Amino acid sequence: MLNDPAFDLKKLSVTVTSPGVIHKDLLVMGCTVSEYGDAAPGHVRAFDIRTGQIRWTFHTIPQPGEAGYETWPKDAYKKIGGANNWAGMVLDEKRGMVYLGTGSPAVDFYGGSRAGQNLYADCILALNAETGKMKWYYQTVHHDLWDRDLPCQPNLVTVKHNGKLVDAVEQSTKDGLVYVLDRDTGASLFPVEERAVPTSGLPGEQPWPNQHFPLKPAPFARQVFTEADITDRTPEAHAFVKERFQKTRSGNKFMPPSLEGTLFFGIGGGAEWGGNAADPDGILYQNSNEMVWDLKMMDLAARNAEIASKGQSLYQANCAACHGADRKGSGQAYPSLVDIGKRLTGQDIQAVLKTGRGRMPSFEHVSEQDRSTLVRFLLNTETKASKTDDQHSAGAPTAVVAKSEFPYIPPYINNGWTRFVDPDGYPAVKPPWGTLNAIDLNTGEYRWKVPLGEFPELTKKGIPLTGTENYGGPIVTAGGLVFIAATYDERIRAFDRKTGKVVWEYQLPAGGFATPITYQVNGKQYVVIAAGGVKNGHKPGGSYIAFALP
Ligand code: HEC
Repeated sequence: MLNDPAFDLKKLSVTVTSPGVIHKDLLVMGCTVSEYGDAAPGHVRAFDIRTGQIRWTFHTIPQPGEAGYETWPKDAYKKIGGANNWAGMVLDEKRGMVYLGTGSPAVDFYGGSRAGQNLYADCILALNAETGKMKWYYQTVHHDLWDRDLPCQPNLVTVKHNGKLVDAVEQSTKDGLVYVLDRDTGASLFPVEERAVPTSGLPGEQPWPNQHFPLKPAPFARQVFTEADITDRTPEAHAFVKERFQKTRSGNKFMPPSLEGTLFFGIGGGAEWGGNAADPDGILYQNSNEMVWDLKMMDLAARNAEIASKGQSLYQANCAACHGADRKGSGQAYPSLVDIGKRLTGQDIQAVLKTGRGRMPSFEHVSEQDRSTLVRFLLNTETKASKTDDQHSAGAPTAVVAKSEFPYIPPYINNGWTRFVDPDGYPAVKPPWGTLNAIDLNTGEYRWKVPLGEFPELTKKGIPLTGTENYGGPIVTAGGLVFIAATYDERIRAFDRKTGKVVWEYQLPAGGFATPITYQVNGKQYVVIAAGGVKNGHKPGGSYIAFALP
């Protein structure tokens, strides 16, 4: 794709949300790319640390002549992007291997133009760090239609398996699964079944007919949203959720996206960024989300019509007074917004709307979704889903390149990333909503499982700890403590690694949606957490808090 003159490189967004790894004189890097039709390919690259020159590139979407090319339609690599490693990787220095997980292929929820198994999207990859040559791959979701990116770096562990010590690589998933693979062969140490799944997708879609079901360890998050899982927090909440439940599709975690709406776990974890921690005994400490998502697909033409009419009325109500009903502006004072896309990107316009500029007032009081609609209306792109979740805040869409296969414009798009919540904003599913799990990777059995996080107002009413959504990983110390923040109650806690009991907690100034670190200076041990806040409507933070251990 990148060598094809049809692509204007300036229009491809490639950013970085996780560090790479350094092996000898190489820096191996993944990347974050768009999840829409304008997604860049998710190449993994190694740079010479002295010169910055690219020394090798691994195409996660294979090109002609490369293995796996046949798992896509011909020339898919020219228009399909994604399959990127955004969540970090891990180096086995002795073996000279990097292990990493890839994300879903673009676009997230419609695969009609990428029929096939789609290697090496949603794969755990073992790459030779010096050459980029693939030793093995293990695909966790075939032909992903659910945004089931591998959401965290794999973990290197050594476990006792059938009486022998085995060097393994562990990968946790958004849908709450734990894969434990032999580091040399990629074979799973525990049995994994391949089972038939629903194939009734949107028109043009060809869902893959079977998917993986690991038998051990048991999933650390619920797999399917059933009627029995509907919240019973209040009778009103129950009735509200049940009504929507009856109009949507659910009941199988591989139910393809649909126009009426599909309910499932695992767009925002199970596991999420920050991953997990493992100790030398082979115990994995894994935090998890149990949030149901309501994924409603829309016919693109219908959505465009909606944006055109909604954008038009928002424009008339908020902007026309100064910029004119015809968008041509008036005089020197009020600039024309015709062809604004030639001067400004969607992100620029978002910024002007948010903060205002000069005599242009701020429109922060207009909802984020309405602001996005306005931006799309002004840019006339209308090809992409609205972004209701900050997890997907790569920015508003940029203008479409005409007469090109790229960006790819799918016939169906998702109507946002929508958590399924009750009228009071609590999850539509019965608790737990967040958990911390200790899983013995030698046996595949659980040591303990406890709620992670709290809604104090619910606790006050006598409701047992529910846990909260959580983003950010744990660390485990030799002293026997598991430190984790990550929760929506903006606290950091220490758990006893043997029992799962909370032995200490502290209210942070803002959410610690990150993984703590620990280090020692002059014999004193410290734990530091970045309390950055912001996630999903939480207040901004921007401080590092350091604790000295007694
Ligand atoms: C009260 C008058 C007023 C209203 C209402 C208003 N704007 Fe503006 N807008 C301005 C002025 C004045 C500027 C020039 C600001 C400057 O740079 O000094 C501007 C600039 C802009 C720009 C940047 C243009 C460029 O070329 O850099 C954008 C985009 C924009 N407005 C969009 C909007 C949208 C969308 C709305 C409705 C939500 C809106 N404006 C409502 C007065 C207004």
